[in-house]
Amino acid sequence: MTAATHRAAVLCGLGGALPATAVPNSALAAELDTTDEWIRTRTGIRQRFVIAPGEATSDLAVAAGRRALESARRTAHGDRETRGGGPGKDAAPDVDLVVLATSTPDHPCPATAPAVARRLGLTGVAAFDIGAVCTGFVYALATAASMITAGAARRALVIGADTFSTILDPADRTTRAIFGDGAGAVVLRAGDQAEPGALLGFDLGSDGAGEELITVPAGGSRQRSTATPPPERDRYFTMQGRAVFNEAVLSMSKSAETLLARIGWRGADLDRVVAHQANVRILRAVADQLGLPEDRLVINLVRVGNTVAGSIPLALADAAADGTLRPGDKVLLTGFGGGLTWGSAALRWPSPYVEPVA
Ligand code: UT7
Repeated sequence: MTAATHRAAVLCGLGGALPATAVPNSALAAELDTTDEWIRTRTGIRQRFVIAPGEATSDLAVAAGRRALESARRTAHGDRETRGGGPGKDAAPDVDLVVLATSTPDHPCPATAPAVARRLGLTGVAAFDIGAVCTGFVYALATAASMITAGAARRALVIGADTFSTILDPADRTTRAIFGDGAGAVVLRAGDQAEPGALLGFDLGSDGAGEELITVPAGGSRQRSTATPPPERDRYFTMQGRAVFNEAVLSMSKSAETLLARIGWRGADLDRVVAHQANVRILRAVADQLGLPEDRLVINLVRVGNTVAGSIPLALADAAADGTLRPGDKVLLTGFGGGLTWGSAALRWPSPYVEPVA
Protein backbone atom coordinates (compact mmCIF):
# COMPACT_ATOMS: atom_id res chain seq x y z
CA MET A 1 0.00 0.00 0.00
CA THR A 2 1.34 3.44 -0.85
CA ALA A 3 1.23 6.36 1.56
CA ALA A 4 -1.47 8.96 0.92
CA THR A 5 -0.17 11.86 -1.18
CA HIS A 6 -1.22 15.46 -0.88
CA ARG A 7 -1.33 17.71 -3.92
CA ALA A 8 0.88 20.79 -3.64
CA ALA A 9 2.46 23.50 -5.77
CA VAL A 10 6.19 22.91 -6.10
CA LEU A 11 8.85 25.56 -6.80
CA CYS A 12 10.83 24.37 -9.83
CA GLY A 13 12.38 27.53 -11.34
CA LEU A 14 13.75 30.85 -10.07
CA GLY A 15 15.31 33.99 -11.52
CA GLY A 16 15.81 37.68 -10.91
CA ALA A 17 16.47 40.86 -12.89
CA LEU A 18 17.88 44.28 -12.06
CA PRO A 19 18.22 47.42 -14.19
CA ALA A 20 21.66 48.32 -15.56
CA THR A 21 22.13 51.46 -13.45
CA ALA A 22 23.28 51.18 -9.83
CA VAL A 23 22.87 54.25 -7.61
CA PRO A 24 25.32 54.18 -4.67
CA ASN A 25 24.58 56.07 -1.46
CA SER A 26 27.26 58.59 -2.44
CA ALA A 27 25.18 59.61 -5.49
CA LEU A 28 22.17 60.35 -3.25
CA ALA A 29 24.39 62.24 -0.82
CA ALA A 30 25.62 64.43 -3.69
CA GLU A 31 22.03 65.37 -4.53
CA LEU A 32 20.11 65.36 -1.24
CA ASP A 33 20.60 66.29 2.43
CA THR A 34 21.78 62.81 3.43
CA THR A 35 24.98 60.84 3.92
CA ASP A 36 26.28 57.39 3.06
CA GLU A 37 26.78 56.85 6.78
CA TRP A 38 23.15 57.68 7.69
CA ILE A 39 21.76 55.37 5.02
CA ARG A 40 24.13 52.50 5.88
CA THR A 41 23.65 52.67 9.63
CA ARG A 42 19.87 53.33 9.62
CA THR A 43 18.95 50.88 6.81
CA GLY A 44 21.93 48.66 5.87
CA ILE A 45 21.57 49.69 2.22
CA ARG A 46 24.66 50.65 0.17
CA GLN A 47 23.14 50.94 -3.29
CA ARG A 48 19.96 50.41 -5.28
CA PHE A 49 19.20 50.10 -9.01
CA VAL A 50 16.97 52.33 -11.14
CA ILE A 51 15.50 51.88 -14.60
CA ALA A 52 16.51 54.15 -17.50
CA PRO A 53 14.10 56.67 -19.04
CA GLY A 54 11.65 54.77 -21.25
CA GLU A 55 12.00 51.47 -19.36
CA ALA A 56 9.04 50.06 -17.40
CA THR A 57 8.08 47.42 -14.86
CA SER A 58 7.20 44.93 -17.60
CA ASP A 59 10.78 45.02 -18.92
CA LEU A 60 12.11 43.80 -15.56
CA ALA A 61 9.20 41.34 -15.19
CA VAL A 62 9.94 39.82 -18.61
CA ALA A 63 13.68 39.53 -17.85
CA ALA A 64 13.04 37.86 -14.47
CA GLY A 65 10.29 35.66 -15.95
CA ARG A 66 12.57 34.52 -18.79
CA ARG A 67 15.29 33.55 -16.30
CA ALA A 68 12.80 31.65 -14.13
CA LEU A 69 11.49 29.75 -17.17
CA GLU A 70 15.06 28.93 -18.22
CA SER A 71 15.79 27.84 -14.64
CA ALA A 72 12.75 25.51 -14.73
CA ARG A 73 13.92 24.07 -18.07
CA ARG A 74 17.47 23.49 -16.84
CA THR A 75 16.28 22.11 -13.50
CA ALA A 76 14.03 19.60 -15.26
CA HIS A 77 16.88 18.72 -17.63
CA GLY A 78 19.27 18.24 -14.70
CA ASP A 79 16.77 15.99 -12.90
CA ARG A 80 16.60 13.80 -15.94
CA GLU A 81 20.37 13.78 -16.48
CA THR A 82 20.83 12.65 -12.87
CA ARG A 83 18.57 9.72 -13.62
CA GLY A 84 20.35 9.15 -16.94
CA GLY A 85 17.32 9.75 -19.13
CA GLY A 86 18.16 13.01 -20.94
CA PRO A 87 15.64 15.83 -21.35
CA GLY A 88 12.06 14.60 -21.38
CA LYS A 89 9.09 15.89 -23.32
CA ASP A 90 7.92 18.07 -20.41
CA ALA A 91 11.31 19.77 -20.02
CA ALA A 92 9.63 22.92 -21.45
CA PRO A 93 7.86 24.78 -18.63
CA ASP A 94 4.39 24.54 -20.25
CA VAL A 95 3.11 27.45 -18.17
CA ASP A 96 -0.65 28.12 -18.26
CA LEU A 97 -0.84 30.92 -15.65
CA VAL A 98 1.08 34.18 -15.16
CA VAL A 99 0.55 36.16 -11.95
CA LEU A 100 2.37 39.48 -11.64
CA ALA A 101 2.63 41.24 -8.27
CA THR A 102 3.23 44.94 -8.78
CA SER A 103 2.18 48.36 -7.50
CA THR A 104 3.85 50.14 -10.40
CA PRO A 105 2.11 48.65 -13.46
CA ASP A 106 3.10 49.94 -16.92
CA HIS A 107 -0.33 51.66 -17.15
CA PRO A 108 -3.23 52.21 -14.71
CA CYS A 109 -5.26 50.02 -17.11
CA PRO A 110 -5.03 47.24 -18.30
CA ALA A 111 -3.06 44.89 -16.05
CA THR A 112 0.59 44.38 -17.04
CA ALA A 113 0.62 40.55 -16.77
CA PRO A 114 -0.96 39.81 -20.19
CA ALA A 115 1.70 41.89 -21.98
CA VAL A 116 4.43 40.16 -19.96
CA ALA A 117 2.96 36.75 -20.84
CA ARG A 118 2.83 37.62 -24.54
CA ARG A 119 6.44 38.81 -24.58
CA LEU A 120 7.46 35.50 -22.99
CA GLY A 121 5.66 33.58 -25.74
CA LEU A 122 2.85 32.56 -23.39
CA THR A 123 -0.07 33.82 -25.49
CA GLY A 124 -3.49 32.54 -24.44
CA VAL A 125 -2.65 31.77 -20.81
CA ALA A 126 -4.50 33.21 -17.80
CA ALA A 127 -2.64 36.39 -16.74
CA PHE A 128 -3.45 39.00 -14.11
CA ASP A 129 -1.85 41.45 -11.67
CA ILE A 130 -1.99 41.42 -7.88
CA GLY A 131 -1.51 44.57 -5.81
CA ALA A 132 -0.38 44.06 -2.22
CA VAL A 133 2.66 46.37 -2.42
CA CYS A 134 5.64 44.77 -0.60
CA THR A 135 3.56 41.68 0.32
CA GLY A 136 2.56 41.28 -3.33
CA PHE A 137 4.86 38.37 -4.10
CA VAL A 138 3.61 36.27 -1.16
CA TYR A 139 -0.01 37.02 -2.14
CA ALA A 140 0.75 36.08 -5.76
CA LEU A 141 2.50 32.89 -4.67
CA ALA A 142 -0.48 31.88 -2.50
CA THR A 143 -2.93 32.64 -5.32
CA ALA A 144 -1.01 30.68 -7.95
CA ALA A 145 -0.34 27.76 -5.57
CA SER A 146 -4.04 27.60 -4.67
CA MET A 147 -5.02 27.56 -8.35
CA ILE A 148 -2.59 24.70 -8.94
CA THR A 149 -3.80 22.63 -5.98
CA ALA A 150 -7.42 23.31 -7.01
CA GLY A 151 -6.66 22.01 -10.51
CA ALA A 152 -7.28 25.41 -12.17
CA ALA A 153 -3.68 25.62 -13.44
CA ARG A 154 -0.85 23.17 -14.13
CA ARG A 155 2.18 25.43 -14.10
CA ALA A 156 2.43 29.05 -13.04
CA LEU A 157 4.95 31.80 -13.55
CA VAL A 158 4.76 34.05 -10.48
CA ILE A 159 6.57 37.37 -10.82
CA GLY A 160 7.16 40.22 -8.35
CA ALA A 161 8.29 43.40 -10.12
CA ASP A 162 8.32 47.07 -9.21
CA THR A 163 9.92 50.32 -10.34
CA PHE A 164 9.37 52.64 -7.38
CA SER A 165 11.92 55.07 -8.84
CA THR A 166 9.01 56.18 -11.08
CA ILE A 167 6.77 57.22 -8.15
CA LEU A 168 9.24 58.54 -5.54
CA ASP A 169 9.37 62.24 -4.71
CA PRO A 170 12.79 63.30 -6.05
CA ALA A 171 13.19 65.57 -2.99
CA ASP A 172 12.31 62.90 -0.36
CA ARG A 173 15.63 61.75 1.11
CA THR A 174 14.00 59.00 3.19
CA THR A 175 12.17 57.06 0.46
CA ARG A 176 14.91 57.72 -2.12
CA ALA A 177 17.38 56.10 0.29
CA ILE A 178 15.39 52.91 0.67
CA PHE A 179 13.62 52.00 -2.55
CA GLY A 180 15.11 50.54 -5.72
CA ASP A 181 13.79 48.85 -8.88
CA GLY A 182 13.93 45.09 -9.47
CA ALA A 183 12.08 41.87 -10.21
CA GLY A 184 12.14 38.21 -9.28
CA ALA A 185 10.14 35.23 -10.49
CA VAL A 186 9.46 31.59 -9.72
CA VAL A 187 7.87 28.74 -11.65
CA LEU A 188 5.44 26.52 -9.76
CA ARG A 189 4.28 23.11 -10.96
CA ALA A 190 1.75 20.62 -9.64
CA GLY A 191 3.33 18.03 -7.37
CA ASP A 192 3.19 16.45 -3.97
CA GLN A 193 3.66 17.87 -0.46
CA ALA A 194 6.47 15.43 0.28
CA GLU A 195 8.67 16.82 -2.54
CA PRO A 196 11.41 19.40 -1.89
CA GLY A 197 10.11 22.77 -3.09
CA ALA A 198 6.48 22.02 -2.16
CA LEU A 199 4.75 25.05 -0.65
CA LEU A 200 3.58 23.73 2.70
CA GLY A 201 1.30 26.55 3.83
CA PHE A 202 0.51 30.24 3.81
CA ASP A 203 -0.60 32.92 6.21
CA LEU A 204 -2.07 36.08 4.67
CA GLY A 205 -3.57 39.14 6.36
CA SER A 206 -4.44 42.82 6.09
CA ASP A 207 -5.47 45.85 8.11
CA GLY A 208 -7.00 48.69 6.07
CA ALA A 209 -6.89 50.96 9.13
CA GLY A 210 -3.24 51.54 8.23
CA GLU A 211 -4.03 52.52 4.62
CA GLU A 212 -2.49 55.98 4.95
CA LEU A 213 0.87 54.84 6.31
CA ILE A 214 1.96 53.85 2.79
CA THR A 215 0.17 55.58 -0.09
CA VAL A 216 0.20 57.47 -3.36
CA PRO A 217 -2.62 59.94 -2.55
CA ALA A 218 -3.51 60.99 -6.12
CA GLY A 219 -4.11 59.24 -9.41
CA GLY A 220 -6.88 56.85 -8.34
CA SER A 221 -10.68 57.15 -8.57
CA ARG A 222 -11.02 58.99 -5.22
CA GLN A 223 -8.98 61.92 -6.45
CA ARG A 224 -9.83 61.72 -10.15
CA SER A 225 -13.59 61.84 -9.56
CA THR A 226 -13.15 65.40 -8.26
CA ALA A 227 -11.78 66.44 -11.68
CA THR A 228 -9.39 68.77 -9.80
CA PRO A 229 -5.72 68.39 -10.70
CA PRO A 230 -3.89 67.13 -7.60
CA PRO A 231 -1.04 69.04 -6.01
CA GLU A 232 2.32 67.81 -7.32
CA ARG A 233 3.30 66.13 -4.03
CA ASP A 234 0.12 63.96 -3.98
CA ARG A 235 1.31 62.15 -7.10
CA TYR A 236 4.26 60.76 -5.22
CA PHE A 237 4.64 57.79 -2.90
CA THR A 238 4.57 58.69 0.80
CA MET A 239 5.46 56.55 3.82
CA GLN A 240 5.32 57.18 7.56
CA GLY A 241 8.61 55.40 8.15
CA ARG A 242 8.71 54.97 11.90
CA ALA A 243 5.12 53.65 12.19
CA VAL A 244 5.68 51.34 9.22
CA PHE A 245 8.89 50.08 10.82
CA ASN A 246 7.06 49.05 13.99
CA GLU A 247 4.13 47.47 12.12
CA ALA A 248 6.54 45.58 9.85
CA VAL A 249 8.33 43.93 12.78
CA LEU A 250 5.08 43.02 14.55
CA SER A 251 3.22 41.78 11.48
CA MET A 252 6.01 39.68 9.97
CA SER A 253 6.85 38.06 13.31
CA LYS A 254 3.21 37.30 14.08
CA SER A 255 2.48 36.00 10.60
CA ALA A 256 5.59 33.80 10.68
CA GLU A 257 4.61 32.39 14.07
CA THR A 258 1.03 31.72 12.91
CA LEU A 259 2.27 29.80 9.88
CA LEU A 260 4.88 27.84 11.85
CA ALA A 261 2.20 26.71 14.30
CA ARG A 262 -0.12 25.77 11.42
CA ILE A 263 2.43 23.53 9.69
CA GLY A 264 4.01 22.16 12.88
CA TRP A 265 7.48 23.69 12.50
CA ARG A 266 9.37 25.33 15.36
CA GLY A 267 11.05 28.70 14.79
CA ALA A 268 14.35 27.32 16.05
CA ASP A 269 14.30 24.67 13.28
CA LEU A 270 14.27 27.23 10.47
CA ASP A 271 17.44 27.18 8.38
CA ARG A 272 16.67 30.41 6.51
CA VAL A 273 14.22 33.28 6.84
CA VAL A 274 13.72 35.27 3.65
CA ALA A 275 11.89 38.36 4.87
CA HIS A 276 10.92 41.41 2.85
CA GLN A 277 14.10 43.45 2.40
CA ALA A 278 13.20 46.93 3.67
CA ASN A 279 15.67 47.67 6.44
CA VAL A 280 18.31 45.48 8.08
CA ARG A 281 17.13 46.66 11.50
CA ILE A 282 13.64 45.29 10.73
CA LEU A 283 15.15 41.95 9.66
CA ARG A 284 17.20 41.71 12.87
CA ALA A 285 14.14 42.51 15.00
CA VAL A 286 12.11 39.80 13.24
CA ALA A 287 14.90 37.24 13.82
CA ASP A 288 14.97 38.32 17.46
CA GLN A 289 11.19 37.87 17.82
CA LEU A 290 11.45 34.39 16.30
CA GLY A 291 14.36 33.51 18.61
CA LEU A 292 16.72 32.98 15.67
CA PRO A 293 20.37 33.97 15.32
CA GLU A 294 20.99 36.63 12.69
CA ASP A 295 22.93 34.26 10.46
CA ARG A 296 19.65 32.53 9.53
CA LEU A 297 18.53 35.72 7.76
CA VAL A 298 18.93 36.07 4.03
CA ILE A 299 20.04 39.67 3.43
CA ASN A 300 20.53 41.21 -0.02
CA LEU A 301 19.15 44.71 0.63
CA VAL A 302 22.75 45.91 0.96
CA ARG A 303 23.14 45.85 -2.83
CA VAL A 304 19.52 46.19 -4.09
CA GLY A 305 17.58 48.20 -1.46
CA ASN A 306 13.84 47.65 -1.08
CA THR A 307 12.48 46.42 -4.42
CA VAL A 308 8.89 46.09 -3.15
CA ALA A 309 7.19 43.08 -4.86
CA GLY A 310 10.55 42.09 -6.34
CA SER A 311 12.16 41.90 -2.92
CA ILE A 312 11.50 38.33 -1.73
CA PRO A 313 12.06 36.52 -5.06
CA LEU A 314 15.21 38.59 -5.73
CA ALA A 315 16.51 37.65 -2.27
CA LEU A 316 15.70 34.00 -3.05
CA ALA A 317 17.54 34.19 -6.38
CA ASP A 318 20.62 35.81 -4.82
CA ALA A 319 20.68 33.31 -1.94
CA ALA A 320 20.15 30.30 -4.21
CA ALA A 321 22.85 31.45 -6.64
CA ASP A 322 25.48 32.03 -3.92
CA GLY A 323 24.71 28.79 -2.07
CA THR A 324 23.18 30.40 1.04
CA LEU A 325 20.06 28.32 0.39
CA ARG A 326 20.91 24.63 0.41
CA PRO A 327 18.75 21.74 -0.76
CA GLY A 328 16.57 20.51 2.11
CA ASP A 329 16.75 23.76 4.10
CA LYS A 330 13.59 24.68 6.01
CA VAL A 331 12.80 28.11 4.54
CA LEU A 332 10.25 30.67 5.68
CA LEU A 333 9.25 33.63 3.50
CA THR A 334 7.58 36.59 5.19
CA GLY A 335 6.53 39.97 3.87
CA PHE A 336 4.88 43.19 4.95
CA GLY A 337 3.69 46.19 3.00
CA GLY A 338 1.13 48.83 2.14
CA GLY A 339 -2.54 48.16 2.71
CA LEU A 340 -1.46 47.28 5.31
CA THR A 341 -0.80 43.71 4.23
CA TRP A 342 1.37 40.83 5.42
CA GLY A 343 1.96 37.21 4.51
CA SER A 344 4.21 34.19 4.99
CA ALA A 345 4.94 30.95 3.17
CA ALA A 346 7.07 27.89 3.99
CA LEU A 347 8.90 25.28 1.97
CA ARG A 348 11.84 22.91 2.04
CA TRP A 349 14.40 24.25 -0.41
CA PRO A 350 14.63 22.23 -3.64
CA SER A 351 17.69 22.37 -5.92
CA PRO A 352 16.74 24.66 -8.79
CA TYR A 353 19.35 25.76 -11.32
CA VAL A 354 19.72 29.52 -10.66
CA GLU A 355 21.81 32.12 -12.54
CA PRO A 356 23.41 34.89 -10.44
CA VAL A 357 21.38 38.11 -10.72
CA ALA A 358 23.76 40.61 -12.34
O1 UT7 B 1 8.64 48.24 2.20
C1 UT7 B 1 7.48 48.28 2.97
C2 UT7 B 1 7.60 48.88 4.18
N1 UT7 B 1 8.65 49.86 4.37
C3 UT7 B 1 9.44 49.70 5.42
O2 UT7 B 1 9.42 48.67 6.05
C4 UT7 B 1 10.30 50.87 5.85
C5 UT7 B 1 10.19 51.04 7.35
N2 UT7 B 1 10.83 52.19 7.88
C6 UT7 B 1 12.17 52.35 7.96
O3 UT7 B 1 12.92 51.53 7.47
C7 UT7 B 1 12.71 53.52 8.73
O4 UT7 B 1 11.69 54.09 9.51
C8 UT7 B 1 13.33 54.60 7.81
C9 UT7 B 1 14.63 54.10 7.20
C10 UT7 B 1 12.35 54.97 6.73
C11 UT7 B 1 13.66 55.84 8.61
O5 UT7 B 1 14.56 55.50 9.66
P1 UT7 B 1 14.22 55.93 11.16
O6 UT7 B 1 15.36 55.50 11.97
O7 UT7 B 1 12.88 55.39 11.50
O8 UT7 B 1 14.22 57.48 11.06
P2 UT7 B 1 13.05 58.53 11.40
O9 UT7 B 1 12.02 58.53 10.30
O10 UT7 B 1 12.59 58.35 12.79
O11 UT7 B 1 13.87 59.87 11.30
C12 UT7 B 1 14.97 60.13 12.18
C13 UT7 B 1 15.71 61.34 11.66
C14 UT7 B 1 14.80 62.49 11.28
O12 UT7 B 1 15.43 63.69 11.61
P3 UT7 B 1 15.03 64.51 12.94
O13 UT7 B 1 13.57 64.81 12.81
O14 UT7 B 1 15.34 63.55 14.07
O15 UT7 B 1 15.93 65.69 12.89
C15 UT7 B 1 14.71 62.35 9.78
O16 UT7 B 1 14.41 63.58 9.14
O17 UT7 B 1 16.42 60.97 10.48
C16 UT7 B 1 16.11 61.90 9.46
N3 UT7 B 1 16.24 61.25 8.15
C17 UT7 B 1 17.38 61.28 7.44
N4 UT7 B 1 18.57 61.84 7.69
C18 UT7 B 1 19.53 61.68 6.75
C19 UT7 B 1 15.30 60.53 7.49
N5 UT7 B 1 15.81 60.10 6.33
C20 UT7 B 1 17.10 60.55 6.27
C21 UT7 B 1 18.14 60.41 5.34
N6 UT7 B 1 19.34 61.00 5.62
N7 UT7 B 1 18.00 59.72 4.18
